[in-house]
Amino acid sequence: MKQIVFGDSLKLPQTIVGCMRLKDSGMRGKELLRFVEECLDLELTAFDHAPVYGGYECEKIFGEAVLKKRPELRRKMQLVTKAGIVLPGIENNQVIYYNSSKKEIIKEVDNSLKKLGTEYVDLLLVHRPDPLADPAETADALEQLVRSGKALHVGVSNFTPSQISMLQSYMSISLATNQVELSVKNVENFFNGILDDAFIRRIPLMAWSPLGGGSVFTGMDEQSVRLRNVVGQIAKEHGTTMDAIMYAWLYVHPVRIAAITGTMNMSRIKTAVEGQSIVLSYDEWYRILAASRGFHVP
Ligand SMILES: NC(=O)c1ccc[n+]([C@@H]2O[C@H](COP(=O)([O-])OP(=O)(O)OC[C@H]3O[C@@H](n4cnc5c(N)ncnc54)[C@H](OP(=O)(O)O)[C@@H]3O)[C@@H](O)[C@H]2O)c1
Repeated sequence: MKQIVFGDSLKLPQTIVGCMRLKDSGMRGKELLRFVEECLDLELTAFDHAPVYGGYECEKIFGEAVLKKRPELRRKMQLVTKAGIVLPGIENNQVIYYNSSKKEIIKEVDNSLKKLGTEYVDLLLVHRPDPLADPAETADALEQLVRSGKALHVGVSNFTPSQISMLQSYMSISLATNQVELSVKNVENFFNGILDDAFIRRIPLMAWSPLGGGSVFTGMDEQSVRLRNVVGQIAKEHGTTMDAIMYAWLYVHPVRIAAITGTMNMSRIKTAVEGQSIVLSYDEWYRILAASRGFHVP
């Protein structure tokens, strides 16, 4: 299993198991515990959570099935969670909003720790940039959480380079990563400065929806059809599956990208790991880029 080092000391596997769809997967109790144990056996030791996944239920489902039953597994895994999204009804609010105030972030992390059944998370991310936030307060919350040992490392998600710079300018601890949407379906973040910013900061990226939410397999839009043809052809040439090629397309990038899987199907997760050993040529990488954008580079 390839590992990526985030910040000064956080080592995560290049394939991270996303838990956003855990509630919908229907896995509970012993079945979920077996799933997690199998992941650990495969060296898939990192799990990506957020309080809002499954309408605030995924962290609880995971905690009850895994760490509250087998607390000794904690030292074998790394937990990532996020903070700063408030779904409607939680604070008598009518709309979803982002809240990166100190009070909210600390409250959310305390709730996540209780639900997950752990005393710390390995990585805490500010889930979305909050236009109403005072970055000094957000920074203070993140540093307090690191000082108290509740979060070993901190980072952001869906931030633009200037939003990272703004938050980082109030902090003495370095932000470890930016978790962004990145896939053959969504290549925008390769061109809008996010990638450049990661290189400048020497931080790896985490790619969410690495298979475009699954749309490449079934979508009838022109982009999905083009991608199915080209990715399918390249997969055939490598004697592998389309998913393995789509993961490889991210893994081969020198910025260092960890992919967060969405599926909870073990054989599909193994395909995500398989992608780590596929080497794509420049020609193959650019053919996929062209299929995604609908044009070749000039
Ligand atoms: N930071 C953020 O703002 C943010 C936002 C969204 C997500 N995330 C994280 O990213 C993770 C991944 O997101 P995602 O679920 O959108 O990822 P994804 O891997 O792009 O999409 C997962 C979907 O693809 C389908 N799929 C996978 N392999 C397939 C195959 N071979 N054939 C057909 N369908 C296939 C899955 O179906 P099956 O389930 O049936 O296998 C599932 O519906 C989440 O779990 C979460 O941890 C973060």
